[in-house]
Amino acid sequence: MTPARAVLSGIGACVPSNTVTNADLSRHLDTSPEWITSRTGIEERHVVSGGESTVDLAVEAGTRALKSAGVAAVDAVVLATTSPERLCPAGAPEVAHRLGLGFVPAFDLTSACSGFVFGLGTSQGLIASGLARSVLLIGAEAFTTLVDPEDRGTAVIFGDGAGAVVLRAGTGAEPGAIGPVSLGTDGSRADLLHIPSGGSRQRAATGLGHELDKSSWYLQMAGRTLFQQAVARMTEASRSALDDAGWTVPMVDLFVGHQANLRILTAVAKRLEVPEERVFVNIDRVGNTLAASIPLALTAAAAQGELNTGDRVLLSAFGAGLSWGGTTLVWPDLAVESPL
Ligand code: ACO
Repeated sequence: MTPARAVLSGIGACVPSNTVTNADLSRHLDTSPEWITSRTGIEERHVVSGGESTVDLAVEAGTRALKSAGVAAVDAVVLATTSPERLCPAGAPEVAHRLGLGFVPAFDLTSACSGFVFGLGTSQGLIASGLARSVLLIGAEAFTTLVDPEDRGTAVIFGDGAGAVVLRAGTGAEPGAIGPVSLGTDGSRADLLHIPSGGSRQRAATGLGHELDKSSWYLQMAGRTLFQQAVARMTEASRSALDDAGWTVPMVDLFVGHQANLRILTAVAKRLEVPEERVFVNIDRVGNTLAASIPLALTAAAAQGELNTGDRVLLSAFGAGLSWGGTTLVWPDLAVESPL
């Protein structure tokens, strides 16, 4: 018997109400709105405030995805996040509890900006193995809390938000069926984007014989090298996903790539020869939201009418790890609410 495939049956996303513009950042950082816009494509981002957390955002996006799918129950919850509220326990069980989903299996997945695509692969596996007939997959981040507000190289890039999808068991021939998922990692380059302290290797930024080093609490990023890696790996992941699906570039109606930097998206699209009008962009409104980026972009694209039933969609992402991944799907008929 052919194993069941994960089929997209609901989607929803949200961002915190607090908006931070480039002009806001330029008031306390040595930068300018022009630099940020021209180097990244970002105009504004949404940032958690007043105690809002990753789980709060995940619950809101999950609520919207369940509503879009018209279901009140799922068999499993997967939360992709690299900004968990605490090291232990995982956030997914609390999300499942707050959504009233009962004692379902629920776990977190850490794959930075590739988290949602890794989550699609994982959910596909849960469904194909028969472990679950339906999965709520959420990408949620309050990553701005892990970024040094005084570091102009990183503080201008990230935003917070969440996006969620309901995946149900179905067949590969149905609209919404997730295509073959292509995934990869390169752990030899883990230090290109990392947060040194807070984990088990280095619990605190200070200790016996050590000076307080505030920066080790925060994200350290080698931006230029990551840029090159992102372009190469997202292009590679896109090509693999297309090949595995038996698609060619002209068949793609919309390319929804991880929104890390407008110049990265443009460079990937150029290498793939995807025309500009088929590249979805919302980084200008939300910044880089890591694992939330792709489901947030998909929700926005559908709500804005840039993604319509029957459209062939190519997804690809790149992030810390390093990690990367891509997949394809034909957009199903879904009820979608605007995330902004
Ligand atoms: N405002 C003004 N100047 C700045 C700023 C800023 N906000 N940030 C850096 N600069 C300066 C640098 O100090 C440097 O100055 P120098 O030439 O005097 O040394 C100059 O601008 C150029 O710096 P670069 O780092 O080469 O700038 P670049 O054009 O590469 O843009 C950026 C930097 C936006 C970070 C870019 O490299 C990038 O987007 N990289 C990818 C980052 C990324 O995608 N990270 C996420 C990975 S995914 C994940 O998993 C989280």
